Amino acid sequence: MLAVKVEKFGDAEVLAVSETADPVADPGEVLVAVEAAGVNRADVLFRAGAYHRGPALPAVPGLEGAGRVRAVGEGTAGFAVGDRVVAWGAADAPGFYAQLAAVPAERVLPVPEGVELTAAAALPVAWLTAWYCLYRLGELTAGDTVLVHAGASGVGSAAVQIAKDAGATVLATVGSPDKQAWVRSLGSDEVLDHRTTDIPAEVRRLTAGRGADLVLDLVGGDTFAGSLRAVARAGHVVALANVALAPSTIDTRDFYPRNVHVHGFQLNDLMDHGYDPRPELRELLDALATNRFTVPVDATFGLSDAPAAHRRLESRLALGKLILTP
Ligand SMILES: NC(=O)c1ccc[n+]([C@@H]2O[C@H](COP(=O)([O-])OP(=O)(O)OC[C@H]3O[C@@H](n4cnc5c(N)ncnc54)[C@H](OP(=O)(O)O)[C@@H]3O)[C@@H](O)[C@H]2O)c1
Repeated sequence: MLAVKVEKFGDAEVLAVSETADPVADPGEVLVAVEAAGVNRADVLFRAGAYHRGPALPAVPGLEGAGRVRAVGEGTAGFAVGDRVVAWGAADAPGFYAQLAAVPAERVLPVPEGVELTAAAALPVAWLTAWYCLYRLGELTAGDTVLVHAGASGVGSAAVQIAKDAGATVLATVGSPDKQAWVRSLGSDEVLDHRTTDIPAEVRRLTAGRGADLVLDLVGGDTFAGSLRAVARAGHVVALANVALAPSTIDTRDFYPRNVHVHGFQLNDLMDHGYDPRPELRELLDALATNRFTVPVDATFGLSDAPAAHRRLESRLALGKLILTP
C-alpha cells in the first residue's frame, strides 16, 4: 500500500509517500481501506516534533479515518468485508495517512447510510472534542452564552454548530475578516476578530456585563488569560489546546472569587484512562445522518499532497476540516 511516512521531524515536506507492506487484521482487529483521513493540528505538531506525545519514527501520521472494511481478524464480531466504517487511532498508534489501517475493533464504528465518509472521518477528533468539552465539561444547556475561540477551525466550526443546536447564544472569534461571514453562516450570533477586538470587554458588553457561561479555549497563551476574564460567575472555561505555543500569565483573582470552573481536556489521555468514545460518536453519526449538523470540509487532498494539506492548516486560512483521500 501507499502511506505517508515521517522519517524525521521537520516542515511539511517531510511528509513523503512511499510503498509500504500492507498491514493485516490480527485477531480482534479490523483492516480498513481508508477513503478519507482527517488532518488535525496534532498531526502538524507531531510532524514538526512539537507534540507532547506520539509514536517513534518512522511513523504514519493520522489519528482518524473512514473507509470500507477490507478484512476482519479472527474472533472479531460485528463487522463484515465492505462495511462503511469510521475508525480512530491512539496518540502512540496513529496511521490513517495510508491506504490501509489495521485497527482494534473497539476503535471502529459503522457509518450510517447518508453520511459521507469525508464527514465521518472528521468526527473522532475535532467533533468529539467539541461535543465532550461543551456537554460533559461545560454543562451546555439551552439559553447559555458560549464563547468559541477559533470559530473557523476544525474544532471551532464543530463547536459553533453544536452550541447553536443546543439553543445557546454563540459568540465566536476569528483572526481575519474573511472568516466572519462564514462562521456566522454556521450559526454564530456574533463573530469577533481577535486581532482588532478586546475579546473579554466585547463579550461583557454583549452579555450586559455578565460574561459567557462557557468558554471553549483552543488557543491558549494570552487568549486563555482573556478567557478567564470573559467567563461569567460560576461559568466554565475549558482549556484544550495551546496552538499559540506560549505560556499564559493569569491572575487567579480573575476566576476564583466568582466560582468559575476551569477544566483541562486531552482526548487521548481520556481514552488511555478508560474513556470509550463510541456512545458519543454514535450520537454524532446519527446527528449527521439526520442533517442536524454538517461537517464543513475546506478541501480534500491526495496522499501525495499531504504537505499541501499541512501547509493549508498552518496558513490559518482553512474554513473547517482538511481531509486526505488515500
Ligand atoms: N486536547 C485535545 O484533545 C484536542 C483535540 C482536538 C484538537 N485540539 C486542539 O484544538 C486546536 C484546534 O484544532 P484544529 O485541528 O481544529 O485546528 P486548526 O483547524 O488548525 O485551527 C487552529 C486555529 O487557531 C487559531 N489560532 C489562534 N492563534 C493561533 C496561533 N498563534 N497559531 C496558530 N493558530 C492560531 C487560527 O484561527 P484564526 O486565525 O481564525 O484565529 C487557526 O486556524 C488545536 O490546537 C488542536 O491541537 C485538542
